[in-house]
Amino acid sequence: MKNYKIAVLPGDGTGPEVVAEGLKVLAAAAAKYGFTYETVSYNWGGENYLATGVTLPENFKEELEKYDAVFLGAIGHPKVKPGILEKGILLKLRFALDQYINLRPVKLYPGVETPLANKGPEDIDYVVVRENVGDVYCGLGGVSGQGTKQEIALQDMVYSYFQVERCLRYAFEEVRRRHSRENPWRGLKPEDLKAGKIGQLTLCGKTNVLTYVFGLWDRVFHELAAEYPDVKLDYCHVDATCMWMVKNPECFDVIVTGNMFGDIITDLAAVTSGGMGVAAGGNINPNGVSMFEPIGGSAPKYTGLGVINPLAAIGAVAMMLDFLGEAPAARAIEASIAYVTGNKLKSVAAGKMGYSTSEVGDLVVENLR
Ligand code: IPM
Ligand code: MN
Repeated sequence: MKNYKIAVLPGDGTGPEVVAEGLKVLAAAAAKYGFTYETVSYNWGGENYLATGVTLPENFKEELEKYDAVFLGAIGHPKVKPGILEKGILLKLRFALDQYINLRPVKLYPGVETPLANKGPEDIDYVVVRENVGDVYCGLGGVSGQGTKQEIALQDMVYSYFQVERCLRYAFEEVRRRHSRENPWRGLKPEDLKAGKIGQLTLCGKTNVLTYVFGLWDRVFHELAAEYPDVKLDYCHVDATCMWMVKNPECFDVIVTGNMFGDIITDLAAVTSGGMGVAAGGNINPNGVSMFEPIGGSAPKYTGLGVINPLAAIGAVAMMLDFLGEAPAARAIEASIAYVTGNKLKSVAAGKMGYSTSEVGDLVVENLR
């Protein structure tokens, strides 16, 4: 029997509440699908920072490298200045563990309201592969004359061939993970199928302005395409991507993009698929330790009330199991989430679900088959 070692970082605000529900569902899935696991919890987060002045301990990397995966709740505290916890914990973890992919599925579950008119679950079902360690997030830049009227500020968009290549390769492979000859992407045309395509990869960039950086992305995209003749190529500028995500989300299968654009378009994507209560993501290092999280943040105003929606955290557990190689358990959790949104919840918004946080966790467990 497989045994997984999982580090749990409940974090701040509603993080611990949703993590508890995720772990409840993990326990049920383990019993049903015949694997075991151990968890160790770490108190890293805003509360700990306020008490000790430390964001992460010296040895955090060596510590986390002992695990098969990390399950994170939320990082963010109203009493801590913006930037400290984000840079000192979340980004530091992503960078140190070289989690160079941020995988963000965009999936409208049945019964979940979308602000997009006349669109349903069959229209909103794609995934964004966001590069997760480069771009303006790399920290290069500087400032001169700060606080004066002569102030100049630079924050550089930096990408290496190496970073672009490994991210694009992951995205091409993601198309193959989602589809096969037998199960091609629904958006393909008869001529695509005839040409042997199984799915589509959209490069989201800005080749009309950011000619250096996205010129590199575009070149490597076409270079790699030769190795993936079964993947249909598509390109969209980031501004147009936003428009299509709202107007015709069904035209996307897998989108790949840089870190900054990926950050922005995945918030838009999340809101089209029911919002932060249901959106999960994975910070992935295919050769190292990956970290799975609900992407909603710490939601301080709902802390301790038992009203926050735990489905995003439960979805993160499903992604983690998928990544660990427990695909049937992952599919079962997703199916149970879909059953619960479709048949039980009044809304996916905090405080409006018709159930408490822990009752929603129970519902997912009860309907796990
Ligand atoms: C996200 C968040 C982070 C990011 C912040 C909190 C640093 O917005 O995970 O999308 O910008 O990556
Ligand atoms: Mn973000």
